[in-house]
Amino acid sequence: MISYQHSLKELNSFGIAAQAEAYLALDTLAKLSLLRDWRERPNYILGGGSNILLRGDISGLVIHNQLKGKRLIGQDKDFIYLEVGAGENWQELVLYCLANNWAGLENLALIPGSVGAAPVQNIGAYGVEFSEVCHLVQAWDCKYQEMRKFEQEDCRFGYRDSVFKSVYPGRFIICSLVLKLRRQPVFRLEYGSIREELGEQPLSIRAVAEAVMRIRRAKLPDPKVLPNAGSFFKNPIVSKVILDKLLAQYPKMPHYPQADGKVKLAAGWLIDQAAWKGKKIGAVGVHDRQALVLVNHGGAKGKEIVQLAEAIQQDIVKKFGVNLEPEVNYWP
Ligand code: EPU
Repeated sequence: MISYQHSLKELNSFGIAAQAEAYLALDTLAKLSLLRDWRERPNYILGGGSNILLRGDISGLVIHNQLKGKRLIGQDKDFIYLEVGAGENWQELVLYCLANNWAGLENLALIPGSVGAAPVQNIGAYGVEFSEVCHLVQAWDCKYQEMRKFEQEDCRFGYRDSVFKSVYPGRFIICSLVLKLRRQPVFRLEYGSIREELGEQPLSIRAVAEAVMRIRRAKLPDPKVLPNAGSFFKNPIVSKVILDKLLAQYPKMPHYPQADGKVKLAAGWLIDQAAWKGKKIGAVGVHDRQALVLVNHGGAKGKEIVQLAEAIQQDIVKKFGVNLEPEVNYWP
């Protein structure tokens, strides 16, 4: 059931050709027992492959999460509790909720990847983060070979961050989630151009999701057409002192105050200002409609993307004194 020297080319949205020493398609919980023999070796948990950069071949076991299923496990007058297998596709889940008129995921429409990646990355878009709809996460603990339940607060969600990503990378395999969805929507329209995109049409869960999908399609390249992994860097968070210095020089710079007094900057804007947008170097490049997205124009090696990312990082430090951290996970 474990295969060896398995190609990962079709399994990563950057379309990088690399191999896994060992590969397991995890489509039943029974197969978790196969992991025992691999406890001492590096484990890589693969979902939709839309947020990884393969720097080379993988030595160790790649566990491809394909645990499926959707089950309504509870409801009351306000909420719906939906259990979803981690191997389900995120966008299919969003469409399923739209069809049932359950609210909560509409701003998160069209995010590539699998359901299991949502808590790891705390995926977010258009003013909403996954943490807001998360009720429970069930995950297999590879260290103690047992199932664990994480309540929302146990997940320690942050901006594109969680306990699964930063405290225990590779230790937990997310098997299923319970989402807490609303019967009555609470619309979140303050971000970017959502209101503009909605225009005069009556508000509904579907109208918001469709507006988000139109905005995303206009800016973000479809990985099937132009391989990429979405935002390559996180938006940097800086102090008010650094912000004021930058604003003195760039009064129009977008910035978003955070709850802790710090300020989030737009990495895409910084990269765009530094004239990287649309640049092409060999097989790799910076997308011409969203500078935060690095693309593979065909046949790129992981190393070439890393080199481009490092060149951008150095340039942004030089020009703005700001460090950009990758949002994409590097393998290995
Ligand atoms: N901007 C530019 N030039 C660019 C790109 C952006 O000037 O080339 C400016 C925009 O005009 C805007 C600001 O930068 O004023 C922010 O841009 P945008 O609204 O496109 O969002 P973002 O900060 O670049 C983040 C997420 C995206 C998410 C969008 C919408 C991160 C790292 N990225 O991008 O998430 O879809 O907001 O909510 O937080 C992802 O994580 O893979 C991802 C695509």
